[in-house]
Amino acid sequence: MGLQWGDEGKGKVVDVLTPRYDAVARFQGGPNAGHTLEFDGGKYILRSIPSGVFQGHCNVIGNGVVIDPVLFRAEAEELERGGLDLKKRLQISRKAHLIMPTHRLLDAAQEAAKGDSKVGTTGKGIGPAYTDKTARAGLRVGDTERADFRASYEKARQRHLAMLGRPGAQVGPVEVEKEWFEAVEYLKQYTFIDSEYAINGLLDAEKSVLAEGAQGTLLDVDFGSYPFVTSSNTVCAGACTGLGVAPRRIGEVFGIFKAYCTRVGAGPFPTELFDETAQKMREIGREFGSVTGRERRCGWLDLVALKYAIMLNGVTQLIMMKGDVMNDFETVKICTSYEGSDGVPYDLGASKPIYKEFEGWRADLRAHATYESLPVQFKKYVEFIEHETGVPIRIISTGPDRAQTIIR
Ligand code: IMP
Repeated sequence: MGLQWGDEGKGKVVDVLTPRYDAVARFQGGPNAGHTLEFDGGKYILRSIPSGVFQGHCNVIGNGVVIDPVLFRAEAEELERGGLDLKKRLQISRKAHLIMPTHRLLDAAQEAAKGDSKVGTTGKGIGPAYTDKTARAGLRVGDTERADFRASYEKARQRHLAMLGRPGAQVGPVEVEKEWFEAVEYLKQYTFIDSEYAINGLLDAEKSVLAEGAQGTLLDVDFGSYPFVTSSNTVCAGACTGLGVAPRRIGEVFGIFKAYCTRVGAGPFPTELFDETAQKMREIGREFGSVTGRERRCGWLDLVALKYAIMLNGVTQLIMMKGDVMNDFETVKICTSYEGSDGVPYDLGASKPIYKEFEGWRADLRAHATYESLPVQFKKYVEFIEHETGVPIRIISTGPDRAQTIIR
């Protein structure tokens, strides 16, 4: 689970943990943004495909995910070109919803209509696709195998165009839809499954499944900084509905957070910095969207928000990413409370953070392979977070590469 506003580094962690699991399953979100993985000198960006594909043989896209066939095809073919037998490694839930070309048009139109209060979405049609799902009007992966698929598509397309005030119009150049239908044919080369049976079957056989979240807790549609959120439940409960797994079957919950905070798009961010410290975090941490290239907003670690996320997800183990970005910082701060508030308030935008200052570690974390050998100032930072949250930090990532990982 991502405990902040996304981009915590979930992809790397899933890749590292994959060899310990029998299957990896994505349960929500879509190709909103990318998961970046680095190993053996290569860099790979995944969007809808689980980050377990490189090291694991059983990967599932669950029912809670929304799939854009065109983006899926581009992503999948890139992996196939790299020699991965993806069709053997990946199965897709029949109940996952499809993103249509008109969902993107609706995403853009809704953002434009919001004027100054734009969410700053990724523009991939995520919100409109989930809206159709809850409005009981969406198209699902399983529908592509039905004889009336074209007719269902046409009906949805007409409805979308009417909403856009363009009834009877073309979606765009004829190629847009042609490409979409060709990508649907490509998608059909994969094995479609009733993933709820598959995953519960694995659990019944005492196999282990790693559920991979997307985005982060503060982008959750219920508990995030609404309305500046994504359109799915990014918290742990989303893994239950997005895979068909009962709450009692959830075991360990890994909560992933960065040693500082970032956010893309609009919305409140209490610890945001606007000075050269933010600039340094952005440059050293390469805090630019992996797909969109958008600049990420940067700021200090927010412990109030982190504790909130730990509570909502039931986190049992923490994983800290990117401490190395602050290697040469003189001082490092953590927001320990907001003025006049006990937790995350309804109006997060009005929060005034109160900080605790730490001496910087002024050393290269990447040079260390064990927790014991890490600089004492860094360990103080880690242990303060553990003490305040009451949850152990079991994994510390000291760099983007798979190998730059300390497991305690
Ligand atoms: P949407 O998910 O495209 O509707 O965008 C809604 C909000 O979530 C925007 O602020 C996006 O920048 C943000 N968002 C969506 N996906 C990600 C992600 O993977 N990482 C970080 N932010 C994201």
